[in-house]
Amino acid sequence: MNIKNYIKNQITNILKSININKKYNYKIKNNYKYSDYQINGIIIISKKEKIKLNFLFKLIKQKLLKNKIFNKIKIINPGFINIFLNKKYIEKLINKISKKKKFNIKKTKKKKILIDYSSPNIAKEMHIGNLRSTIIGDYLSNILKFLGNKIIKINHIGDWGTQFGILITWIKKYKLEKKIKNIKYISYIYKKAQKYFYKNNKFALKAKKNVVKLQNKKKNIYNLWKKIVKITTKENYKIYKYLNIKLKKKHTIGESYYQKSLTKIVNDLIKKKIAIKNNKSIIIFLKNYIKYPIIIQKKDKGFLYSTTDIAAIKYRYKKFKPNKIIYIIDYRQTEYLKQIFQICKNSNYIPKNFNIIHYKFGLILNKNNKPIKSRKDNYLTIKQIINLIKKKSKNFINYNKKYNKYKINRITKKITIGTIKYIELSKNRKTNYYFNINKVLSLKSNTSLYIQYSYTRIISILRKNNTNTTNSIKYFKYYITSKLEYLISLKILNFKEIIKKSAKKCKSNIICKYLYDISSLFSNLYEKQNISNIKNNKLKKSKLKLIAIISKILRIGLNILGIPILYNI
Ligand code: ARG
Repeated sequence: MNIKNYIKNQITNILKSININKKYNYKIKNNYKYSDYQINGIIIISKKEKIKLNFLFKLIKQKLLKNKIFNKIKIINPGFINIFLNKKYIEKLINKISKKKKFNIKKTKKKKILIDYSSPNIAKEMHIGNLRSTIIGDYLSNILKFLGNKIIKINHIGDWGTQFGILITWIKKYKLEKKIKNIKYISYIYKKAQKYFYKNNKFALKAKKNVVKLQNKKKNIYNLWKKIVKITTKENYKIYKYLNIKLKKKHTIGESYYQKSLTKIVNDLIKKKIAIKNNKSIIIFLKNYIKYPIIIQKKDKGFLYSTTDIAAIKYRYKKFKPNKIIYIIDYRQTEYLKQIFQICKNSNYIPKNFNIIHYKFGLILNKNNKPIKSRKDNYLTIKQIINLIKKKSKNFINYNKKYNKYKINRITKKITIGTIKYIELSKNRKTNYYFNINKVLSLKSNTSLYIQYSYTRIISILRKNNTNTTNSIKYFKYYITSKLEYLISLKILNFKEIIKKSAKKCKSNIICKYLYDISSLFSNLYEKQNISNIKNNKLKKSKLKLIAIISKILRIGLNILGIPILYNI
């Protein structure tokens, strides 16, 4: 519950009850000096609607007081309403909801939601360009699952297309079959082969011919392809596993899967008069995109990325019967996806009103503020990013001297995962950003380490006082004894709304900010008074319960972000 929004909704309803439906811009401010909240701007409503101010004031006061959460309402001339919250009621609420497994956060309507995310291209090492979709997609599936939905994850890997013709032709040309053992080598020769492909026509022609042979499953070519896919995906799963990304083999349905259905789909689209022949290729013109038709089959009969995406939607809808399909892809594919979605609706592969959404994100920029281009830039692979952050963490942290190597490595890993994910998750999804690993580790500013560390500190305080999160919440009673605790209480009540808002907009940064804020509030609280030294037992328990509640919130929040918690450093 966000009290400000709550008051706003109440006022809107009160105004509606006397037939004022127009939206007025009255303000609700925190006003900790004279009250808890202050409403300002009722005078304007009274003037515009020609209703006596006193009548409005009285009505608002009378109706607001019906809510247990408000204790006192004071009208201050000329035109303010001061609101005092009922602290006892807030305490009661907090004592109640903190006991609930998910803080009373429930979803009423459960949905089956399919999410297409990560989806790297094969024959390449996973790189910085794959980071956003992978991390955002995983967060989104976590939060939607937390809210009670059934999630179907799909990793639409780029395991088909011309790139394999190029690579395989190169491998055959130089008889490199036996050398194909790891992804680094594959990436390396792929780059070389690609350069050559653009320079040499004869090679290009051969590569294209080999694509057709691959499509026809010609044995030696098909087997080579299989090997390349196997080696790449094996590497990718290692990365997912390290980063605690919950994508498994069973979630991979790559582009190649749809090969067998593409001819049928193209024919169907022609039959339905959605696609037309144009100069030997097959294309689709959509009303608002006359200038940018979608090609679904090339002159040489080859199919495209688009054909596969259409086939994928058709398949996914039929096979999984989801209520919603979500794509986590960068904004450059916005117009393309709009067209693909429209084509699938026009051809009745999905219903006209089907909920299919693209959550787009911005690009990661290089030092010159230009998008990192996988082909030209010497971009970082995810493995390199992991190693860089790992090294940085190790140097940054003062580990407990008693810890052995094994334990230190485990902690470092958790910090590394948190740091990499937080770089992404704390940003606004829609904007581009420059990837900077300089300030990502700090115990004083907005970092995942700060949040992880706050959690660790709370756990150790509880431990020192012979209790833990569950027991403190279950057996102790919390009551507000200071302004700061009052603020923390309001923050706690706001958790539910934060989670819902974050999920609705697919904005992880809302949760990051919230977790950071509540961690800072905990720090303030702890700086004021060392809880372990409190003599009054009742007071001590109340404070222990408050920090236990904070730790529970941190654990739920970090879990949703896919960031591991730390019990010790
Ligand atoms: N493999 C593509 C890329 O790396 C992303 C695929 C996204 N998913 C999809 N269904 N098109 O750009």
